[in-house]
Amino acid sequence: MTIRPTWVIANRKMHGNQAENRQFLEALLQHTSTHQARCVVCPPHPYLHQAQSLLAGSHIAWGGQNMSRYAYGAYTGSVSPLMLKEFGCQYVMIGHSERRQRGHDNDESCGERFETAIQHGLTPILCIGETLQEYQRGETDWVVARQLQPVLNHVGVDALARGIIAYEPVWAIGSGITASPQHVQTILAFIRGHIALLQPSVAETLCLLYGGSITAQTAADLFAMPDVDGGLIGKACLDSGHFLEICQMAETRTRLAWAA
Ligand code: PGA
Repeated sequence: MTIRPTWVIANRKMHGNQAENRQFLEALLQHTSTHQARCVVCPPHPYLHQAQSLLAGSHIAWGGQNMSRYAYGAYTGSVSPLMLKEFGCQYVMIGHSERRQRGHDNDESCGERFETAIQHGLTPILCIGETLQEYQRGETDWVVARQLQPVLNHVGVDALARGIIAYEPVWAIGSGITASPQHVQTILAFIRGHIALLQPSVAETLCLLYGGSITAQTAADLFAMPDVDGGLIGKACLDSGHFLEICQMAETRTRLAWAA
């Protein structure tokens, strides 16, 4: 049986300043351990240099919250994969719903940029998930399959495993409503099954995360689900104490998986 790692990814959104970032990153360095769960921090882009100086050589990785499909050029306000790499990023988030909803990202551009990330040696964290209306209409399966398709078209199923998929229902993000562990498990099992039809070995190794109002109270039950390989954490990463509790739960999941 394949044992997939457990991930805890901090999406710091447009929060923080140099002093707060330092406090957060130093707390992570001090209180997380080296080889159990995988911890990644995605700060706002201007703070990537700070993340690099504090985290370089440590067990904590960092990444961008977005990326252009182009390496350079007249794209005001965009950040290229080369720039992320220059600041030591190993990861990049693609297609977060807060960007999709404001019209910056769509399914096709996410597919293109997933491919660009891989070509530049970055691990894309692809965010997918349905709106409240789609959820209420029972369309979640259809929506996540639609969102995955351009990625499959661009990179093919084998390269999909070089990224991470985060299922983030739009109605759960920032709302204080965590999706139930059963719902999350059903959707992640659907995604894994969908990929298994194309290539079973990719489905087995692909890391699938959940994101949407995860807290220290809800993380353990979510991480106990067989197809949940960790979480993408927004609000709860603004408090290092809460975030560290979630990291601890991810550590426990990893240890239990190895002990089984
Ligand atoms: P949240 O954000 O934990 O605040 O809901 C998660 C995300 O947007 O990735």
